[in-house]
Amino acid sequence: MQHTTHSPEETKLLAQEVASTLKGGEVLFLEGDLGSGKTTFVQGLVHAFGYTEPVRSPTFALMHTYHIDHPTVKQIVHLDLYRLNDPSELRAFGLEEVVHDPRTIVLIEWPEKGFDGDILLPDKRIVFTIGEHNQRTIAYGKT
Ligand SMILES: Nc1ncnc2c1ncn2[C@@H]1O[C@H](COP(=O)(O)OP(=O)(O)OP(=O)(O)O)[C@@H](O)[C@H]1O
Ligand SMILES: [Mg+2]
Repeated sequence: MQHTTHSPEETKLLAQEVASTLKGGEVLFLEGDLGSGKTTFVQGLVHAFGYTEPVRSPTFALMHTYHIDHPTVKQIVHLDLYRLNDPSELRAFGLEEVVHDPRTIVLIEWPEKGFDGDILLPDKRIVFTIGEHNQRTIAYGKT
């Protein structure tokens, strides 16, 4: 499926729709250029699960964890691996605790910086592309 959004708000609405298909236990790869809307999408998704505080890019921390009050989802882990120097640095994050944990959703920006090849296969891969003006195309699943 491919959607075109025309504002950050529209991208967040699309993220809300995707959120409604998630049960917990999923790993999502968010791929696309700088500024293509990945973090904006995460903001919409985390807020769709009822989180009310600001959601910011984990640009330097690389990982933010949001505690969620929801029947099946207890936390959302947001990673941005753009500034990862070496995949071995990921060991410090204890990802084995959260990846495919049935109460956790894991969202990863720049997954290619940390997971080369088939080390971790996502349940959903969402690809963001910058278009003219404020257009972004967001593609996932069957295209
Ligand atoms: N349709 C749109 N959807 C999402 N963001 C948009 C859209 N139109 C304009 N923007 C702007 O584009 C920028 C997207 O930034 P965002 O941080 O979400 O990108 P990103 O893909 O996470 O980048 P990075 O790889 O640097 O983390 C924001 O400044 C936002 O306001
Ligand atoms: Mg980002």
